[in-house]
Amino acid sequence: MNKTQFLDARNIGAIYMCGIIGVIGQDAPSLVVHGLKMLEYRGYDSSGVAVISEGTLEIRKNTGKLEEVEKKEKFSELNGNISIGHNRWCTHGAVTKENSHPHTDCTESIAVVHNGIIENYLELKEKLIANGHSFKTQTDTEIVPHLIEEKINAGKNFETAVKETCNKLEGRFAIVVVKKDEKQMIGARRGSPLVMGIGDGKYFLASDVPAFLSSTRKVIFLEDNEMAVIGSEAKILNFKTNVAVQRQVQEISWTAEEAEKGEYPHYLIKEIMEQGVSLHRAVNQDETRIKEVAQMINAAFGTYIVGCGTAGKVGLAGTYIFSKVAKKHINFAIGSEFPQYHDFLTPKSLTIAISQSGETADTLEAMEATKETGGKLASIVNVMGSTMQRMSDGYIMVNAGPEKAVASTKATTGQLAILYLLAFASAGKLPEGKQLLDKTCGAISGMLNKELTEKVKTLANKLKSHENIYIIGRGLNYPIALEAAIKLQEVSYIHAEGFAGGELKHGPLALITKDTPCIVLVGNDETRKDVLSNAREIKARGGYIIGISPENSEVFDEWIQVPDVGICSPIVNIIPIQLLAYFIGVEKGNDIDRCRNLAKAVTVK
Ligand code: G6P
Repeated sequence: MNKTQFLDARNIGAIYMCGIIGVIGQDAPSLVVHGLKMLEYRGYDSSGVAVISEGTLEIRKNTGKLEEVEKKEKFSELNGNISIGHNRWCTHGAVTKENSHPHTDCTESIAVVHNGIIENYLELKEKLIANGHSFKTQTDTEIVPHLIEEKINAGKNFETAVKETCNKLEGRFAIVVVKKDEKQMIGARRGSPLVMGIGDGKYFLASDVPAFLSSTRKVIFLEDNEMAVIGSEAKILNFKTNVAVQRQVQEISWTAEEAEKGEYPHYLIKEIMEQGVSLHRAVNQDETRIKEVAQMINAAFGTYIVGCGTAGKVGLAGTYIFSKVAKKHINFAIGSEFPQYHDFLTPKSLTIAISQSGETADTLEAMEATKETGGKLASIVNVMGSTMQRMSDGYIMVNAGPEKAVASTKATTGQLAILYLLAFASAGKLPEGKQLLDKTCGAISGMLNKELTEKVKTLANKLKSHENIYIIGRGLNYPIALEAAIKLQEVSYIHAEGFAGGELKHGPLALITKDTPCIVLVGNDETRKDVLSNAREIKARGGYIIGISPENSEVFDEWIQVPDVGICSPIVNIIPIQLLAYFIGVEKGNDIDRCRNLAKAVTVK
């Protein structure tokens, strides 16, 4: 993946971030539909399934959320041993039944699902049209089945036709292909993720592990330019060199239950409530990787944290954490800005990517830029086998387990904990850091109780019809004020903005009128006095003050008590806001796990 590819991608009319799955074995279509449900976080504007049964190919697809399409198209009626499926998420171009996947060739014998962007599709399409192919959609994907058809018409077998087709494609793709008279399913990737699951008498290919976690935890992550040819057995080969690849099967530690909602009405609340446990897993992991990355930081001349969205706010918090804990200056840039900012990189630079998915295109581009200048790469990611993890010289897993809600919660607190561990390790004080974080894990398990949820629910009722909410914090809690705003925006659809407490007098105070809700994040540190004084400035202008703090203050109209965990206050202070965003969202009837206009893994620029 290089800069040119990204730039070209912006010019394409239809841009996708999607979830794909293929299953070969008994009950293939129902496993595909289940997999699509697990992959819905990747996209949800249209869905489709193709099934091969006794030499026939049947495709059912439509626009709308998966549950609507599932009912409308009666996916439950589908039977067969080979099936593929797709969730589409289109940010440009039409959401139509025709444009939804799977896509087929002229004879409707070959079906393809695709995630990514084929940059040279127009050129290939023109040639195919000149050769007599007719197209039914505006997608880039549709050229794939036609190219395969062309090769098969020229006498190539299915495998060779797919292989040669992959070599014609420019850009990023993960595809799964089936053909009606073949007992095979073929998948290939370059740039977009594709993982093979090995079950009992079944094989899976999917964008992400949770898609088949209820059937198997045995996986092989495909690398770029690799294809998996799966029939009764599976083989992997490099489609560029045509050389067979031997890969070790890995066992995933995530469980199927972790990827399900269980007794909770939404993934978001489940993921918020399990933060005591997920944080414990992040903190109590093997120290080797933490020490390794800390050493990379100490050896580097210039360390830059990059991340997007919530991960970006965590990254900014990282600069404060390193300053406080390790007395070290670390730089931060949001992923999409890094390309305009990176001219100072040298071979001694280190870039640390923070990402839940490990697939965010903007963050990947920042990593590429570092690589091009010969610098080192590290990552803090939650998804094992993700592109970021695999391209890093050193990586640390967040161990949050599958995070399905689009709004990040448990991955966020896990990432923060890892940054504390790294800072303590870089200062040669890892045991001290672990002790503090262990205390924080316990405090979080204790605070996530009925009393807190009831209190926040009542507050949510009070705030739900407000148009604006402001959040302030200072020092370590300033980036958390920014993250708090993101949570409120994406889940409760309220205009929320976070500010550094000291900045109020330079503009934002003008926004405060009678009863404007303002959340004040207080850490039990040297910023406490100043942030409370900022709260008084707001109150004097009529603002309604909600304090998140270990101690009460006369300035608070509402007080949400959090445990005193010293410099780890960002980890506990964000939790009541996550709950607040959730309960406001529920009150307003919002689609909690699938935030409006957003997707979880943003694999395009
Ligand atoms: C999207 C998601 C956010 C997330 C951001 C970065 O915008 O909606 O929740 O923080 O991407 O994702 P990453 O996977 O890199 O953490």
